Amino acid sequence: MVQAQQIGKSFGPHRVLDGVSLDLAHGEVVAVIGPSGSGKSTFLRCLNHLETIDEGSITIDGEALAVQDASGRSQYVADREVRRICRKMGMVFQSFNLFPHMTVLENIIEAPMTVKGLRREAVIPKAEALLAKVGLLAKRDSYPGRLSGGQKQRVAIARALAMEPEIMLFDEPTSALDPELTGEVLRTMRELAHEHMTMLVVTHEMGFAREVANRVVFMDQGRLIESAPAAQFFAHPQHERTQAFLRQML
Ligand SMILES: Nc1ncnc2c1ncn2[C@@H]1O[C@H](COP(=O)(O)OP(=O)(O)O)[C@@H](O)[C@H]1O
Ligand SMILES: [Mg+2]
Repeated sequence: MVQAQQIGKSFGPHRVLDGVSLDLAHGEVVAVIGPSGSGKSTFLRCLNHLETIDEGSITIDGEALAVQDASGRSQYVADREVRRICRKMGMVFQSFNLFPHMTVLENIIEAPMTVKGLRREAVIPKAEALLAKVGLLAKRDSYPGRLSGGQKQRVAIARALAMEPEIMLFDEPTSALDPELTGEVLRTMRELAHEHMTMLVVTHEMGFAREVANRVVFMDQGRLIESAPAAQFFAHPQHERTQAFLRQML
């Protein structure tokens, strides 16, 4: 579903991603872990074109998003194609990013209406089903400001799912939450994984990574240092830096 090859990305003189390659198979859940500043968010944002890459190639669901030319620079496909391909990916941010002036339901139906051009009446039943799925149908007409962090994040997940993505990208979805609220969000994500959603999850939740992810990758200083099936990753981390990171986290 996702093939990222030799991604290079700099902000000015600072090389933030240095030859990062990662493949995600259909239905696979991959957890990305690593210290702050290692490039995890930038990598996720590059996959769905919130940032552009300098080098390397990205293929989504069999379609090229960016290819590397003879000089080694990345070239994106036409803007229209970029937008269409990126719609296959839904993203959930640490900070929820809900529209504060819209109700929960309006937040969810907004993109299907404006981006996909669907009619309000057609979208509402689907939105309500998604709200029921994340356990928040009763909050349908509430404004985000009246919700807890865990509820906001579950609405954000429902909003991403309303676009019917093939792939879900999560960037530290529980990092802004009080500890007692992380469980409800992780439960929603676990259910998605059981439904075979393809998921790439940046997280500090080692329990979630161990139990739900098929594979765990470790990033440090812009490089993908280690990648292994979850059980093996935690039982036998190969690299010294992975070992040091896990000692600190567990
Ligand atoms: N828009 C930006 N402009 C300049 N530097 C950035 C920008 N975004 C991220 N960085 C830098 O890139 C590095 C990686 O950041 P990030 O991808 O957010 O790491 P992580 O998510 O692993 O904490 C950091 O040094 C960060 O300061
Ligand atoms: Mg980050």
